[in-house]
Amino acid sequence: MSKVTLSAASLFAAALLLSQTTPGPEPFLEKPYLQLGDAPKLSASASLVLMWHTDAVPAQWAVEVRTSKDSAWRAVGQPWSQTVSAPAGEPTVAGKNGAKKDAPATPAIEPHLVYRARLTNLIAGQEFRYRVLKAGKPVFDATGRARKSAGQPFRFALFGDCGQGTPAENAVAYQAHLAKPDFIFIPGDIVYGSGRISEYRTRFFPNYNADEPAASNGAPLLRSVPFIAVPGNHDTALANYPRFPDSLAYFLYWDQPLNGPMAPLDAVKTKHVLTGAAAAQSIFLEGAKPRYPRMANFSFDYGNSHWTVLDANTYMDWNSPALREWLAKDLAAAQSATWRIVAFHQPGFNSSKQHFSEQYMRALSPIFETNHVDIVFAGHVHNYQRSFPLTFVPAPQADGAAAGPKGEVAGEWKLNKAFGDGAAAKPDGVIYIVSGAGGAELYNPEQQNDPASWQTFTTKFISQVHSLSVVDIDGKTMRLKQVSDTGDVVDSFRIAK
Ligand SMILES: [Fe+2]
Repeated sequence: MSKVTLSAASLFAAALLLSQTTPGPEPFLEKPYLQLGDAPKLSASASLVLMWHTDAVPAQWAVEVRTSKDSAWRAVGQPWSQTVSAPAGEPTVAGKNGAKKDAPATPAIEPHLVYRARLTNLIAGQEFRYRVLKAGKPVFDATGRARKSAGQPFRFALFGDCGQGTPAENAVAYQAHLAKPDFIFIPGDIVYGSGRISEYRTRFFPNYNADEPAASNGAPLLRSVPFIAVPGNHDTALANYPRFPDSLAYFLYWDQPLNGPMAPLDAVKTKHVLTGAAAAQSIFLEGAKPRYPRMANFSFDYGNSHWTVLDANTYMDWNSPALREWLAKDLAAAQSATWRIVAFHQPGFNSSKQHFSEQYMRALSPIFETNHVDIVFAGHVHNYQRSFPLTFVPAPQADGAAAGPKGEVAGEWKLNKAFGDGAAAKPDGVIYIVSGAGGAELYNPEQQNDPASWQTFTTKFISQVHSLSVVDIDGKTMRLKQVSDTGDVVDSFRIAK
């Protein structure tokens, strides 16, 4: 047998080579992404929250930023973490609790750490660099853009019903990347089918935080601009919680303002309860503290606009006086903003046959009109629809109820059909947009070329292509372009004040 001896020097050289050429363990479960944080007002415009996920082994993490005013990398405050995990789900037994068929238990989610760091002293509207360090060594860097101030024009991209792992999801993400927005808004149904951790890992983070932008791949959006979202029915599928204890991940993985109506939520909490194993619930509540359930409703300012974001899921009751009062107060306090924008998942005005009866959010129209709301965005219906500017007077059902058993709302609308792009660009009424063509299977493609099937309030109906809304606000002008997943402009209009 021949004997090979290696000198200490050659062993060291081999080890060095190995360390340089063999990738170490990936430091992230999910790479860094930007969030608005609990900062509703522009006075906090100089900060954003950076989040990332790692395994459960604590490490020494730090974040540094560099703006045009910084001559060198500058450390920001110490990152903090919360542990997130979920036990295995309960198997479903056919015939029990209305289940149609047996379904096996879903696997547990291993404990992992969700880190947050506040990026401070950013310069409104300007790009900045940031880097994340593990044990003193930079492991990630990217360019972000700080929130815009009231005097700065801005652009946002908006699409709902997106995280279904389809080719269209990536194509829409790529178009959003090409549009270079300042932020992205998702009006619900962020991931399918039940807002689970496991679904975020396969249908959200890889697509919207991809390293390389491509129509087939998604784009590095999450690391560059804040995503803001309101939960849809698939993000808050409470009835599925016992089977999927890794659902409700919206409250674990997002960081948004906590200025919503907690007291009214208490009033309707009998409709908003977790069920299933108590152990699963307490693990979830610990990881979601202090965001559950408050973060489902909130408002914030961006540039010269005020956004009011509502949870329109059926466990809410927007006919309750307490909730209506919160909404009216929030909008009344925002009259000095140039633009008032409202967003929620289930649209009040929808011409699609799919979800047609779910009209219950129409009941809020008088509050929107009194408080000069300019535009309302929704999703839920997987296509694009634009209404004429309209005003609406709701009428009670024959039995006195505000809505019928399936959500129908009676009443009369008045349409501003003269609204146009020229001298008549000042709308008389509220424009209602459905922008739910962000990736999931399209609804009612047969209706696109059949205007006779539309309600009279609808003026555009695009249901044969996936698309996103790209909206520019510059002073007293707003322009919306609806862009297809291949970059075609399929609708465009301007509002001028
Ligand atoms: Fe939905």
